[in-house]
Amino acid sequence: MQTIKINASLPYDVFIGSGILKNAGEIIKSCGKEIKRAVVVTDDIVGPLYAEQTQKALNKSGISAELFMFPHGEASKSHSVLISLYEFLTEMQITRADILVALGGGVVGDLTGFAAATYLRGIEVVQIPTTLLAQTDSSIGGKTAVDIRNGKNLVGAFKQPLCVIADIGTLKTLDRQTFSDGMSEIIKYGCIKSRELFELINDGNVDENIEKIVSECVKIKKSVCEADEQDKGERMLLNFGHTLGHAIERYYDFTGITHGSAVAIGMCLISAKTEKAGLTKKGTTERIISCLKKFDLPVSTDIEIKQLLGFCLNDKKRSGDSLNLIVVNEIGKSEIRKVTIKQFYDLMEEKYEG
Ligand SMILES: NC(=O)c1ccc[n+]([C@@H]2O[C@H](COP(=O)([O-])OP(=O)(O)OC[C@H]3O[C@@H](n4cnc5c(N)ncnc54)[C@H](O)[C@@H]3O)[C@@H](O)[C@H]2O)c1
Repeated sequence: MQTIKINASLPYDVFIGSGILKNAGEIIKSCGKEIKRAVVVTDDIVGPLYAEQTQKALNKSGISAELFMFPHGEASKSHSVLISLYEFLTEMQITRADILVALGGGVVGDLTGFAAATYLRGIEVVQIPTTLLAQTDSSIGGKTAVDIRNGKNLVGAFKQPLCVIADIGTLKTLDRQTFSDGMSEIIKYGCIKSRELFELINDGNVDENIEKIVSECVKIKKSVCEADEQDKGERMLLNFGHTLGHAIERYYDFTGITHGSAVAIGMCLISAKTEKAGLTKKGTTERIISCLKKFDLPVSTDIEIKQLLGFCLNDKKRSGDSLNLIVVNEIGKSEIRKVTIKQFYDLMEEKYEG
């Protein structure tokens, strides 16, 4: 088992290894808090697979564990599920001495993290991520949120976990699409920060190297979050491909395409344009495309660019008349460029009628 310390305002450890779920109780106890009760929060796909094992692991270390389960999917990252969770916690008389355990993908992690940030003005949360995306991205960095009708992640809080327990073994039960969606974000990490990681994914055997790949991503997320915990500077690099990706998701009303697929297309579109403008080394886009294709991820769209740009103007990453463009200069190196909306349209070779 590897341990990576995240030096956030409240530091915590990320434990990574295969089969470590069965040691969850001991690991939590090693974090230095006297804990007697926990509520394991999960969804109805992950629950039947891993909840019993998790509860047993906690019981073995003297922690009693209740279970709260909700329907899987983004639609559950909602106020109604959140309120049901708060009500369950009060019925179970959960106090600030107790903890929540988020067992699942990013939906479970974000919702449980937000509940932990707000219930009784804050109780501890342990993240046990079970998707590739959650192990490499959403469980680290302390961002939590729920969605509202007007947009995703619009109500949230920063809440650093007590610890993160990433059991690589749980990835074996992921379906192909969810695995590929995670790979899209991992390829993004390689593009923005690590040529070595990109080459490992592109040339190596991903299944054989999965633990190394997860830990490399955690180290990148660590470095970016430590430099910019509140998402006001370097952390924005993680948004490579996301402005256009979000526009694609909005075009499909967040139901017709997965986030990972939309980001994959977004990375290809923006990289092609910055390469044409001379900001990106020649051949980079081709390499990104060929790597994404290995995981059956889409690399283009039939949606007109002009239409997508309309959606970009409503993006929450926009600030006033400008937006932060993430440019991959070459595989493994990237920069944030503040550009006006007009400059963004010029780059995308579209007329701004603003
Ligand atoms: N907080 C952050 O910093 C951050 C960063 C990126 C994304 N996110 C959020 O993460 C969410 C997406 O997360 P996700 O991609 O993990 O989606 P998800 O949580 O919906 O999980 C995807 C699917 O996989 C299933 N699943 C999870 N683990 C499994 C396993 N081990 N075996 C079999 N099935 C399993 C789930 O039940 C679900 O159906 C979005 O809501 C996004 O906004 C948050």
